[in-house]
Amino acid sequence: MVSKVLVTGGTGYIASHTVVALIDCGYSPILFDNLSNSKLLVLDRIQQITGFSPVFIEGDMRDSNALSSVFKEHDIDSVVHFAGLKAVGESVQQPQQYYDNNALGSLNLTRAMANASCFKLIFSSSATVYGDQEQVPITEEMPVTATSPYGRTKLMSEQIFKDLADADSRWQTALLRYFNPVGAHPSALIGEDPKGIPNNLLPYVAKVASGALKQLEVFGDDYDTVDGTGVRDYIHVVDLADAHVKALAALNADHGCQAYNLGTGRGYSVLEIIAAFEQASGVDVPYKVVARRAGDMAISYADVSKSEQCIDWKARYGLAEMMQDHWRWQKNNPLGYE
Ligand code: NAD
Ligand code: UFG
Repeated sequence: MVSKVLVTGGTGYIASHTVVALIDCGYSPILFDNLSNSKLLVLDRIQQITGFSPVFIEGDMRDSNALSSVFKEHDIDSVVHFAGLKAVGESVQQPQQYYDNNALGSLNLTRAMANASCFKLIFSSSATVYGDQEQVPITEEMPVTATSPYGRTKLMSEQIFKDLADADSRWQTALLRYFNPVGAHPSALIGEDPKGIPNNLLPYVAKVASGALKQLEVFGDDYDTVDGTGVRDYIHVVDLADAHVKALAALNADHGCQAYNLGTGRGYSVLEIIAAFEQASGVDVPYKVVARRAGDMAISYADVSKSEQCIDWKARYGLAEMMQDHWRWQKNNPLGYE
């Protein structure tokens, strides 16, 4: 029988790529999303890539009845939980929104799952739970902390899932801690479509390259790094999507609740990213160096050995592919999913 996977936040950026990977591996995904940060057109694009139209349910994680109905109507075997808000700065301005959507959303989900005797869960966590680590590479055993309401919602969700697994051995949960997701599907049919002015580096660089924004501001060049600019572990979204399928396959009765880092295990500076993007696109990316952004750390990159050993996953794509695919998506969809 085809295994049905509930994908919360299913029309979002990382989820849409994961839905494609799930379909390619023979799963039947059921997408649940309130469309607060995604568009229905994503569904047509998934159909174009895979030849399969997944079930879509418009609903909100804060609505327990809606979640329960999904489990009643579909024989769901496992859940990949992406739904949530993700802007760090916004979370400082509107903490209630973040605790409501992200933390309460996670709690509601676990209730609906337990009522339906569904105990397999993959969760979208973030490297933000490591705070500002002094040591790199970052391993899953390092202490976790949070510096924003957004980060605290990720930590709270992780804690809920850990406590449940401690209390009831039927829970099998993988906490996937993403480093910096970038890129797009090579078809350029799905990709990231940020609302307004992007906060993150790659979407900003892509909009400067396309002429929609004038120049990039590089936040500080006085860090203790290779060229003074911040270093991050960028990971191709298609690799990230594959990791969800691998993590799902690796869940078993002895699994409990485990955290896994998802990155390439190597860091690149902001200036290295600009150079790689210019090379991939053939377009200049004008920039100026400004003051550091509050809350930024100098260096973050993952130790990915646990993911390699336990879920048999390793990133396949390098920086050139990340930049080429990001640029192809931007060029073919200058207004995103409009
Ligand atoms: P995204 O905004 O594209 O996807 C999230 C989806 O969830 C959207 O489609 C949105 O409409 C939906 N959603 C939000 N609140 C909801 C609610 N209450 N009920 C139902 N649907 C809701 O973001 P993304 O970049 O694809 O991120 C997916 C997940 O990965 C998020 O949980 C995010 O925190 C996490 N994450 C993202 C990054 C990143 O840099 N993109 C890094 C680490 C972790
Ligand atoms: N940067 C710039 N200019 C910009 C945007 C970013 O110089 O316009 C720099 C930052 O200072 C940093 C690097 O580019 O050195 C990457 O910044 P991003 O905003 O793209 O990513 P962050 O590492 O700051 O944070 C992202 C997500 C967080 C998540 C974290 C780890 O925004 O939610 O990755 O997954 F927690």
